[in-house]
Amino acid sequence: MLTGKRIVLGISGGIAAYKMANVASMLVKLGADVHVIMTEAATHFITPETFEVLTKNRCYTDTFDRGMDMHVPHVTLGTTADCFLIAPASADILGKIANGIADDMLTTTVLPAKCPVLIAPSMNVHMYENPIVQDNMRKLASYGYEIIEADCGFLACRDTGKGKLPPEKDLVEYILRACGKTKDLQGKKILVTAGATKEAIDPVRYITNHSTGKMGYAVARMAMLRGADVTLISGETTIDAPMFVNTIRVKSAKDMFDAVMSYSENQDIIVKAAAVADYRPVSTADEKIKKNDSTMNIELEKTDDILKALGERKKAGQFLCGFSMETENMIENSRAKLEKKNLDMIAANNLKVAGAGFAGDTNVLTLITKDGQCELPMMSKEEAADRLLDEILNRGVI
Ligand code: CTP
Repeated sequence: MLTGKRIVLGISGGIAAYKMANVASMLVKLGADVHVIMTEAATHFITPETFEVLTKNRCYTDTFDRGMDMHVPHVTLGTTADCFLIAPASADILGKIANGIADDMLTTTVLPAKCPVLIAPSMNVHMYENPIVQDNMRKLASYGYEIIEADCGFLACRDTGKGKLPPEKDLVEYILRACGKTKDLQGKKILVTAGATKEAIDPVRYITNHSTGKMGYAVARMAMLRGADVTLISGETTIDAPMFVNTIRVKSAKDMFDAVMSYSENQDIIVKAAAVADYRPVSTADEKIKKNDSTMNIELEKTDDILKALGERKKAGQFLCGFSMETENMIENSRAKLEKKNLDMIAANNLKVAGAGFAGDTNVLTLITKDGQCELPMMSKEEAADRLLDEILNRGVI
């Protein structure tokens, strides 16, 4: 996602500086051209050589170093970066940037920067809470810099409180949101459902299915990275909620129905990837059912079809996309669902095809619309999510 992007990492003097080696490495793996600038204080915590090995680029520490490989490096780096992350940002560097002080390689590169600049303060909790530091953060935010709030936890100084640098993967997600994708869904509201519902039999047992939620979570994340305002209504899964997405957890088909209905009204796009139970027990026992006879029956009743209900109340201009999981006659059955539920598109997958279906990291989707169908080859669920969103945009309905 970062191929062809130039990411500048500015590292100031804080113990969390060591974590930036991981950030640099993760960015390189995503294809980015990573350039690291360290303050003199940062070099006490981790060496410039570490970053040079990881990034294959010169690590800058001194504005006046005459051996540098760029013309006026601080201006070149500042103006050509696609994203600039300053992490850890010490109280000192916050104060300097907030007041326009440019007296080293890092601060002189921030001033000419035209790209999104993300600042992740990290320090002792008492320093973090100091009103001067807080004022500087507010001031920087008012100038358009994005402040990444520190996490709470046990700090190197043995205090517990706010001041921890967020996990490396979170910092990378901020960068991906800033410059990883074209913002072609900016201003659009998207509702996504994901995962399996659980229908209780008694306080111990439930009926569910094999859905892990990976496909729906991928759609939600990709839509977020493309600038959409995303709400994700999810059955219980083991996957972490995507960052920058309004995630609502539900259990049963009824819970999902209620949640979807309360959010569906003003959505531009709805993607229903959840594997909703079609039937639930007619009654849920209050106490654990004891085993008695050699066989037992559970009477089931139909759940409400959420997607069908959405199709019935679809607003003009709203795009409704369902999913269809089949084991035979995939196209015919999915087309029938498209018609019956008044959908604009249905993403069909056949559980019996290698690389498709539940739990895996790949899928093989056929995107079916009223007037055509597009067969996608096997690809990662994130790529498939992207292609599905492309197809929705290409339809030009929104
Ligand atoms: N769906 C729903 N509410 C239900 C059942 C299904 O919203 N009670 C949605 C799913 O989220 C999916 C689509 O309907 O987007 C198709 O689900 P699928 O299980 O493939 O088909 P069903 O319509 O349930 O039909 P069948 O199980 O007979 O194949």
